[in-house]
Amino acid sequence: MKKRIFSGIQPSGLLHIGNYLGAIKNWVELQKDYDCIFCVVDYHAITVPQDPKTLTKETLGIANIYLAAGIDPKKSIIFVQSHVPEHTELAWVLNTISKMGELYRMTQFKDKTQGKEQESAGAGLFDYPVLMAADILLYDTEFVPVGEDQRQHVELTRTLARRFNNRFGETFKMPKVLIKEAGAKIKGLDDPEKKMSKSASSANYIALLDKPDIISNKIKKAVTDSGTEIKFDPEGKPAISNLLTIYHLFSGEEIKDIEVKFQGKGYGEFKEGLAEVVIDYLKPFQKKFFELEKNPDFTKKILKQGAGQVRKIASKKMEEVREKIGVLDI
Ligand code: AMP
Ligand code: TRP
Repeated sequence: MKKRIFSGIQPSGLLHIGNYLGAIKNWVELQKDYDCIFCVVDYHAITVPQDPKTLTKETLGIANIYLAAGIDPKKSIIFVQSHVPEHTELAWVLNTISKMGELYRMTQFKDKTQGKEQESAGAGLFDYPVLMAADILLYDTEFVPVGEDQRQHVELTRTLARRFNNRFGETFKMPKVLIKEAGAKIKGLDDPEKKMSKSASSANYIALLDKPDIISNKIKKAVTDSGTEIKFDPEGKPAISNLLTIYHLFSGEEIKDIEVKFQGKGYGEFKEGLAEVVIDYLKPFQKKFFELEKNPDFTKKILKQGAGQVRKIASKKMEEVREKIGVLDI
């Protein structure tokens, strides 16, 4: 039996190459060796205000991105979180064994509430990691492939699984985070100290659906380091090292070979080469995405099928949870 993988992305805002290189690209590769479930986590997205029409569109959009990137519904399951109510049901039960202090320590919560009055932060935002734990634990997940920023949430998931199992008897499998080093933390083009982020200015990221001229321009304007050499040195040359990582992941060429290729050439020439690599890679992906966008019924059918498949697993696990905690069965 193949081991199970579970991961998800929120339908909120556009996806950038950091999401792709840190998460989706790895998922595509994992499909052949694992039993994979990929979720569009819409109930996570509403932990910050969402326009209802935009949410509907973006939920389908993320599913289309999964498909266009090469997640194959014949091999893997794709579904939308809200279509399987067991996710929120288990989240409620896990809430009762989660500690406020644990949730306060989550860096994503701290980041998202930074500068704002914590009094007015949403309870859903605070509780976000518990819903994520429910997503993972419902399916006896073995590995959770995500970017570095999600490591802490998977740690919390393990804590909750352990606590539940100790209190009520063995119920949940202990999941492990799966982080591929290259790509786990793609940095912003305008600030190589921080991760690429969709909430930053548009000069920070390359969106997966950016047009070629926009991609070229953003790369041209990307911050560089002092000196002229194209060399991988994350400490001394964080900006160029980030660009080299992007080049490596999109072209499949080894970093040392890329360094040799651009030896004696300046940053300008390297950036032109990089833009070409990124544009060429994204071209077929974008074409597929826009084709899928024209036919929403096709994607909806896949999502419906996916929800049907996972619901069987989720409802069984939830039955077990209800029994373990002693709710009355009728
Ligand atoms: P988010 O957009 O925060 O919902 O993230 C979706 C997925 O992309 C998660 O697995 C993140 O860990 C990953 N991710 C987000 N930003 C980056 C980044 N700059 N570099 C690598 N992975 C990222
Ligand atoms: N919190 C994740 C993010 O922001 C998204 C997510 C929700 C997730 N549930 C999950 C990722 C379960 C992996 C497994 O990227």
